[in-house]
Amino acid sequence: MVQSSVLNLHESVPRETLLEVAISASRKAGTLLLKYAETGFRIEYKAPINLVTDADRAAEQCVIDHIRTSFPTHRFLAEERGHVEEGQSPYLWIIDPLDGTTNFAHGYPVYCVSIGLEYEGRCVLGVVFDPSRNELFTAMEHQGAQLNGRSLHVSKAVTLDSSLLVTGFAYDIRETPRNNLDHFVKFALKAQGLRRTGSAALDLCYVAAGRFDGFWEVRLNPWDMAAGAVIVREAGGRLTDFNGKDLSIYGQELVASNGQIHEAMLAVLAQEAP
Ligand code: IPD
Ligand code: CA
Ligand code: CA
Repeated sequence: MVQSSVLNLHESVPRETLLEVAISASRKAGTLLLKYAETGFRIEYKAPINLVTDADRAAEQCVIDHIRTSFPTHRFLAEERGHVEEGQSPYLWIIDPLDGTTNFAHGYPVYCVSIGLEYEGRCVLGVVFDPSRNELFTAMEHQGAQLNGRSLHVSKAVTLDSSLLVTGFAYDIRETPRNNLDHFVKFALKAQGLRRTGSAALDLCYVAAGRFDGFWEVRLNPWDMAAGAVIVREAGGRLTDFNGKDLSIYGQELVASNGQIHEAMLAVLAQEAP
């Protein structure tokens, strides 16, 4: 018993093996989501506008089972379970099995499986799979980011005037004064264009791919950000909170950009509402 916990503390798996397992888990869960989209699913409400489907739950189980088969000692933080599992492994998988649930439930094909991995508290790997477009975003610390195996880089936009930005709103938009509508109005008047896609993990990947120049949101959860944050960082982007401090995925606030427009975004976020 003592011996196995000592072993767990020192376990070290080759990064390539971790990536392979995360990729196969994301593809398996993505295929499952497409099957549910085709054949139907049940919807339950966690709150008036916050829904969950049996596809969310099945995809989460699928990802965890798949990873656990390869790495039985690793820990998990997954949206539908919501707590960090006990244990001593330095590896923590952070999973959003279906990011974009509202889109999914409406048949709007903008959703993904998001799998991030922390090692000793540092995000070291991210995999995001969009099954509708067969787009697989991947990144490992110090090894760059890829889309379907091709290198990814953030955009070169230098002004908000020439930037396409994206944001999102949390499910408690009706209850909290920190509902992001003030920032939305300010950016709508500053950016070339502004979008709300409904999938924070894909928003991050699209910043990494240069499709968006910047993304901000308040009240996000770690599973929304874990994988996408590594992907943006490895594609050359910058990630902070609203004060310009390095991003913590446990901190709720996120600003992700190509780096060039980051200060301009922070300045807008610091302004009083118009
Ligand atoms: C939501 C999406 C959305 C964001 C919300 C998230 P879910 O995640 O990422 O874009 O604006 O804050 O909760 O519920 O679809 O996994
Ligand atoms: Ca999510
Ligand atoms: Ca989700």
